[in-house]
Amino acid sequence: MTQNESFTQEQEAKAADSGANASARFRERMAASAAGGSVVDHERVNLLAGKAIKALNDIVIEEKVSYEEYNALKAWLIKVGEDGEWPLFLDVWLEHSVEEVVNEHREGSKGTIEGPYYVEDAPELPWNGTIPMREDEPGTPFLFKGQVRSVDGRPLPGAKLELWHADDLGFYSQFAPGLPEWNLRGTWVADEEGRYEIHTIRPAPYQIPTEGACGQLIAAAGWHAWRPAHLHFKVRAQDHQLITSQLYFPGDPHNDDDVASAVKPELLLDPQPNPDAEGEMTTYDFVLDPEA
Ligand code: DHB
Ligand code: FE
Repeated sequence: MTQNESFTQEQEAKAADSGANASARFRERMAASAAGGSVVDHERVNLLAGKAIKALNDIVIEEKVSYEEYNALKAWLIKVGEDGEWPLFLDVWLEHSVEEVVNEHREGSKGTIEGPYYVEDAPELPWNGTIPMREDEPGTPFLFKGQVRSVDGRPLPGAKLELWHADDLGFYSQFAPGLPEWNLRGTWVADEEGRYEIHTIRPAPYQIPTEGACGQLIAAAGWHAWRPAHLHFKVRAQDHQLITSQLYFPGDPHNDDDVASAVKPELLLDPQPNPDAEGEMTTYDFVLDPEA
């Protein structure tokens, strides 16, 4: 095996684990929350499940779906479950619409999808801390600073910012094997003026796992599997609504055709060379809506 082949195999193995891990993590989180039980009432289930089934039946009739196509769908749906890829499928092709309706009335910063790779309780760091990373972590050093404010302009001291992102190869710790547990994940506590200064590296563009059922669909349809490089955030402060968002880098070829439809123009950063250190820097302020 050449070094290149072994590298590719390692990459495929890492990506293959991600789907199953995302399913296991999601199950754990749901079990720990009230939503693990049945919190959706009969009336809504009747309405929503009824509409979803009708939409599918309408497609079958309009498009005159054949038995070959019906069976291909059946086999594929079975495989999505076997590969543990329901979180991937839903977060890529549906979550953006849920996020849109849920955050429709926010006046503060824009949110976007959470995706399948969030982990609670990342290590807490001071307002200007460095993200947990390997000693020789590859990638461009990246300084990200700003302020958390309320919509009325008031700074929010002690606001908590959780950041998680892929490494320079597009892998997330705790989902791809071989990475330290909290690699490129942390929680910053803003200072008395709501400011934060995050020291990290630039993440690479990310390809959703291509070797499982979602990848099979993408290949069969002639689509692509790319998400532009992004930083994931959750920002919270007392008496304010939590925001879940992502920020993107200008010039990424997939900002305009993100497989997960999660890019918004307000979420593009403006990185510049860092005048004081190696790498790049940028500023971005989070504006939180008060609790309803
Ligand atoms: C997926 C991965 C991401 O990093 C993300 O932000 C959204 C979706 C995915 O693989 O499904
Ligand atoms: Fe992501």
